[in-house]
Amino acid sequence: MDSFLIEGGVPLRGVIEVSGSKNAALPIIMASIAVDDVVTYTNVPDLRDIHTTIRLLNILGREASLENGVVTVRNGVLGMEAPYDLVKTMRASVLCLGPLLARLGEAKVSLPGGCAIGARPVDQHLFALEKMGTVFDLENGYIHGRCPRGLRGAHIRFDMPTVGGTENVLMAACLAQGETVLENVAREPEIVDLANFLIRCGAKIEGQGSTMIRVQGVESLHGCTYAVMPDRIEAGTFLVAAGVTGGELLLKNCPLDDMSAVVDKLRDAGMIIEKTEDGVLARTGEEGLKGVNISTRPHPGFPTDMQAQFMVLMCCAQGSGLVEENIFENRFMHVQELVRMGADIHVTGSSAMVRGGRRLAGAPVMASDLRAGAALVLAGLAAEGETRVQRIYHVDRGYERLADKLSAVGACIRRIKDPG
Ligand code: UD1
Repeated sequence: MDSFLIEGGVPLRGVIEVSGSKNAALPIIMASIAVDDVVTYTNVPDLRDIHTTIRLLNILGREASLENGVVTVRNGVLGMEAPYDLVKTMRASVLCLGPLLARLGEAKVSLPGGCAIGARPVDQHLFALEKMGTVFDLENGYIHGRCPRGLRGAHIRFDMPTVGGTENVLMAACLAQGETVLENVAREPEIVDLANFLIRCGAKIEGQGSTMIRVQGVESLHGCTYAVMPDRIEAGTFLVAAGVTGGELLLKNCPLDDMSAVVDKLRDAGMIIEKTEDGVLARTGEEGLKGVNISTRPHPGFPTDMQAQFMVLMCCAQGSGLVEENIFENRFMHVQELVRMGADIHVTGSSAMVRGGRRLAGAPVMASDLRAGAALVLAGLAAEGETRVQRIYHVDRGYERLADKLSAVGACIRRIKDPG
């Protein structure tokens, strides 16, 4: 297992190029299952989850590969089983369920277990696909879905806006018979990107980005070349890095329009974030950072995937900030690690009170999930002395060449092998 070794306290200065979005790439690449011929994706980040998706597609009979940010998926006889060994390493594997049912009328996908940030059930995915005519059985830990006469359009209202649920059912609805209306859907930019990809392949979709999506089923989808959107969470993480180190970063390819909730809060906290001809420029203003409150919500609210990183900003600010997590239970695993670095944070239920104003101190810490890992890297960059972030395989799932990108703007960070 690898760790990051960070010597903190260096203001980051320079240019960082934001990578393609992991959370957009995963469903969009998975959607190739529903497409008849060759699909080429550009701006794909080289990440562990992307490699897992490619492995899954290869197991399902596709010929998929990633080279220099380009994923190509070619036809092959489609299989219908997503095995436990893959699904257990990446929950998003469940996104093959919708397109497989649409293409084959049958799919067997290992039921994803709990994960570090909560139970994360898939009941909404199943309920919607049942309304479209699928019968599900649970067999030996696998969800086995059958719709021998094909999926049919339906009117579906989700109990809560779920990102994965919306994506899974959207992919299925493109090839269903007749019209599907999806209400109370998630509105994340990654869903809009998926819909735009499907439309490029011939799907008939309206309303993406709003709370209701309408899909007219078509006979088949054709191939295309598609550029994945930039990663708004990676970009947000770098904005925080500029703030907590007192540096100045220029982000290229930064999807600012999709980041309003985060950018508004960063500005409230004292950061100056400007759109320039060259990209997005970020630094802390003259008066320094100050505490603000955040409350995570579905898009366009403040994203849960930026909660841990924002908490580090609050640790470095003057005054206090209340952080409320409303999307996932158990998403404060980074708190105890930050406390080990000298942070003053008190958790009560789904809220954390962060009292800033003291310098973090380097320490050995452990990443418990992807965004918690990113937060600990940020804390290490801001802290005095040496921080060793262990279990960075979590970070590798979602940040492309993180240590290289940060080193290039002056950070003292390197990847080391753990002894033994
Ligand atoms: C996606 C993102 C993840 C992000 C999350 C919320 C990907 C690959 N992952 O995860 O990074 O943190 O959106 O923005 O895009 N829920 C149910 N039943 C369901 C589905 C969801 O109860 O059938 C609950 C979940 O437990 C959670 C909430 O709804 O509390 C949101 O989950 P969801 O939006 O589905 O997140 P993911 O798609 O798993």
